[in-house]
Amino acid sequence: MSLAVDPRAVESLLAFWADAGVEACYADEPIDRLAEGAALLRARSQPQPVVVAAPPPRPGAFGGIDIGAAAAHARELAAACNDLESLAAAIAAFDGCPLKTQGAKQAVFSRGPGDAPVMVVGEGPGAEEDARGEPFVGRAGQLLDRMLKAAGLQERAFITNTVFWRPPGNRTPTPQEQAVCAPFVERAIALVKPRLILLVGGASAKSMLKREEGILSLRGRWFEWRSEDGAIEVPALPSLHPAFLLRQPAAKKKAWQDLLMLAERLDRPERPH
Ligand code: URA
Repeated sequence: MSLAVDPRAVESLLAFWADAGVEACYADEPIDRLAEGAALLRARSQPQPVVVAAPPPRPGAFGGIDIGAAAAHARELAAACNDLESLAAAIAAFDGCPLKTQGAKQAVFSRGPGDAPVMVVGEGPGAEEDARGEPFVGRAGQLLDRMLKAAGLQERAFITNTVFWRPPGNRTPTPQEQAVCAPFVERAIALVKPRLILLVGGASAKSMLKREEGILSLRGRWFEWRSEDGAIEVPALPSLHPAFLLRQPAAKKKAWQDLLMLAERLDRPERPH
């Protein structure tokens, strides 16, 4: 007996699931996507033109990618970039982040002036950012923009994330994914030379500051962000993620206090040395 399926019914069901936030379908048997991704990365890393000669990531500890080797490769690529355009191109061509093969449409690097005095570092791109190729352009990003504008910071912020590909299902990026992307974030800081950094969300604050505490304990306190070699130090303020504020509007007061604290420090006259 053949089962007639009405395509309109299928479309309607899929639309209903999409509205309900269901973004992925699962088969009965598990499929090891990380292994598939690793094979793809190995295949891709062979004939690609390489910006800077360096070994492709070796198979290893995490999803077939040796995170240490991939991060070292990222560091070499990043070091060769002397402006933000070449950094964006190096990120887009980089195959060492496991997220790149997990459904992301494109790399999402940054928006905002390249000489901004403030750098905002979020966690990772969401669906809207993945579709448009720019960070913080969805609902959370619109709230962030409104808050930055109200604090007089909108045209003064360069905005990026700890990872440059959308984690599937908008999950939090893993420390390994963040470690692989970190050399690019560090290079962005070296090129933009912000006076202050705003870290939004726990995953951003923990990874950038190498701290274990939760965001509610970190937020509203100044820390020193340091480059891997210790040569660059920038004061960094953790705060609440705008996506969290959309879910918990009562927490906006705390995030607003943080932003005012940042704006006040930015406009404070620097003491002569
Ligand atoms: N959340 C983030 O952390 N970053 C984005 O770019 C968008 C949403």
